[in-house]
Amino acid sequence: MTTAQPLTLITGANRGMGFEIAKELGAKGQRILLGARNAEKGTQAVEQLKQSGIDATLIPLDVTDKQSVQAAADRIATDYGSLDILINNAGAVFDGRQQPSVVNTDQMRQDFDLNYFGVVYMCQAFLPLLKKAPKAKIINVSSMMGP
Ligand SMILES: NC(=O)c1ccc[n+]([C@@H]2O[C@H](COP(=O)([O-])OP(=O)(O)OC[C@H]3O[C@@H](n4cnc5c(N)ncnc54)[C@H](OP(=O)(O)O)[C@@H]3O)[C@@H](O)[C@H]2O)c1
Repeated sequence: MTTAQPLTLITGANRGMGFEIAKELGAKGQRILLGARNAEKGTQAVEQLKQSGIDATLIPLDVTDKQSVQAAADRIATDYGSLDILINNAGAVFDGRQQPSVVNTDQMRQDFDLNYFGVVYMCQAFLPLLKKAPKAKIINVSSMMGP
């Protein structure tokens, strides 16, 4: 009997570390769901993975947008029924690492929207699907800016 390879969703995977993680895990046989907020960039990244023989599918996903996150979860529920691994990779720094005494609070809010609330939205929306997998994992790529 063959066991299906893990189904892995990576946020912000169209470039940078997310793309490299997709490449490495895909090369090991995992089925990659490549999260990208820009469809064109995401499609290019998926095509690149497919050319290397990786099983990759684009999931349009802006982690700061609750509706986008829920739409991605609904689509994965319909198409796959469960999710084995969620990698919360999308992240960025907006405030230029300014001192708390002078930090621009609008930029600080952008940091929290992406690096903190983005992860919360993802975990809340995807926990029901992860709970349906036999051995699910959530992996958070952190930084000095992230949770
Ligand atoms: N590089 C480092 O030295 C370093 C060190 C410590 C931790 N980290 C952490 O590692 C992770 C990846 O870093 P990286 O250097 O690979 O970053 P990167 O090259 O700047 O890539 C960031 C990725 O996140 C995506 N993204 C940004 N905002 C998003 C949103 N609202 N929804 C969905 N995706 C979004 C970007 O999409 P677009 O292409 O559309 O912008 C891009 O795909 C981050 O969490 C970062 O904090 C990095």
